[in-house]
Amino acid sequence: MLTVKALHIIFVVSWFAGLFYLPRIFVNHAMVKDKATQDRLALMERKLYGFVTPIGLIAVSLGLYLWFGYGFAGGWLHVKTTLVVFLIAYHLYCGKLMRDFAAGRNTHSHVWYRVFNEVPVLILLVVVFLTVLKPF
Ligand code: HEM
Repeated sequence: MLTVKALHIIFVVSWFAGLFYLPRIFVNHAMVKDKATQDRLALMERKLYGFVTPIGLIAVSLGLYLWFGYGFAGGWLHVKTTLVVFLIAYHLYCGKLMRDFAAGRNTHSHVWYRVFNEVPVLILLVVVFLTVLKPF
């Protein structure tokens, strides 16, 4: 079980590296005007999204394996999983924003993306405290 949990944490950390960095690229993309830089940022976004999506999938699968494979229970797990569903929606929305940028359809400012970038930070804080402290 500890090996599965260690792998779970490793993939969670890697997933969050992408969830923190991708919106940061969006902040820069929303500020640049020249086509060459926009194309380079679009390529970075596509590669990062393609890399971090399977990692997120593995992180969640290992979490579900811990839950159902080792009989964990408690309100903390239900709240945690609800927040993770929100995190998956955030991830998929980043995919939509990435495609909007690639098609020249972005409508959000760099300020909007700076705020958007903080959402995974808040989720990480709550999920880690929930999982370690198991308050209910
Ligand atoms: C549906 C998705 C997920 C499920 C079902 C899940 C489930 C679990 C379970 C059952 C454990 C073992 C708890 C223990 O040993 O005390 C665990 C550990 C952990 N999970 Fe998840 N997890 C999921 C996603 C995540 C995400 C997205 C994060 C980070 C934001 C996360 C962070 C952690 C951490 C830090 C631990 C280690 C806690 C400890 O050792 O006390 N998990 N997870």
